[in-house]
Amino acid sequence: MTVSSLDLIPDFDLSARNTLALKSRSRFGVMIETPDQVTAVFARAEESGLPLRILGGGSNVVLSSGYEGITAVVATTGRRVLEDTEEHVLVEAAAGEVWHDFVAWTVEQGFGGIENLAGIPGTVGAAPVQNIGAYGAEVADVFDSLVAYDAETGALKTFTAADCAFAYRDSIFKREAGRYVVLSLRLRLPKPWAPNLRFAGLADLEAPLDPAKVMARVLGLRGSKLPDWRVTPNAGSFFQNPIVTLAEAAPVLAAFPTAPNFPQADGRTKLSAGWLIEQTGLKGLRMGRAGISERHALVVINLGEADADDIAALAAHVKASVRARFGIALHEEPIFL
Ligand code: EPU
Repeated sequence: MTVSSLDLIPDFDLSARNTLALKSRSRFGVMIETPDQVTAVFARAEESGLPLRILGGGSNVVLSSGYEGITAVVATTGRRVLEDTEEHVLVEAAAGEVWHDFVAWTVEQGFGGIENLAGIPGTVGAAPVQNIGAYGAEVADVFDSLVAYDAETGALKTFTAADCAFAYRDSIFKREAGRYVVLSLRLRLPKPWAPNLRFAGLADLEAPLDPAKVMARVLGLRGSKLPDWRVTPNAGSFFQNPIVTLAEAAPVLAAFPTAPNFPQADGRTKLSAGWLIEQTGLKGLRMGRAGISERHALVVINLGEADADDIAALAAHVKASVRARFGIALHEEPIFL
């Protein structure tokens, strides 16, 4: 693969490549279909002096209207079972695979371990970046290793779980944004399978259970709570659930003793951003071309023709209102690119 053979697409339209459906164009776009093309893309950007950004499924980003650089879309494919022993199944997928299709593929083969994470939009490569989580599980729970391109050294690097420094919706890839491009992910699914029914909405599932049954319930729960981005464009949870000290949480819990809160190992507690936003009276809010879903207060929606400025103005309003009402600072989950 020579640098010059990279196919740069001028005036690249990203409007259908982000789940918020924001109108967005990039001066150039390029599809990364093989791992070596990542190196070539970085070389090409360096040569041309243009900035470069990497996009996966576009489900956790707020894209600016115009980007004066190169947007590279990770579109590598492939998934396989590497080991199937009495203790575990080791599965691998390329970064450009659709996360949910990967989950469904494991479940179809009877492998359990990621069924609670079914239905999450986005790609396999993005999953470890923000350590995606739902229904009592997160990708870190079954993580084996990953391979990423390191833009600082120009080399590929294999990361163990410890290297990734996973935390709630966080990892080294998010903290050092722009440095690494995840190329492939390996998960170690433990055997025998034990269903994870910690989340309240799963606790009443009746035996006999298999991963497919749990996945079906998870998809049902998601469908009943979260608006579908194909119908109502959105980026899932727009704010992280704030993890705060007990002193910070005290005014909330004094006024609302039953407010959802989840004590953390470090003595802090996690509050529910959706609950805080709803209590602030913002559920269903409409502000210009953007709004808050009537179904889930954590979901910012595009009412049609919104751009990044509309989304940013709405997010700023929500943060200021929640801070004024409860003294709690919210932080956006999607990345503004
Ligand atoms: N709540 C409200 N009003 C709302 C929404 C929620 O009061 O409009 C309350 C609920 O009653 C509940 C609490 O908030 O007591 C938590 O709600 P929910 O179970 O819907 O979960 P969440 O904390 O809002 C998190 C993840 C979701 C994930 C769900 C299910 C974050 C930021 N979000 O949402 O992830 O699907 O749990 O496990 O951690 C995403 O990241 O894009 C995402 C959708």
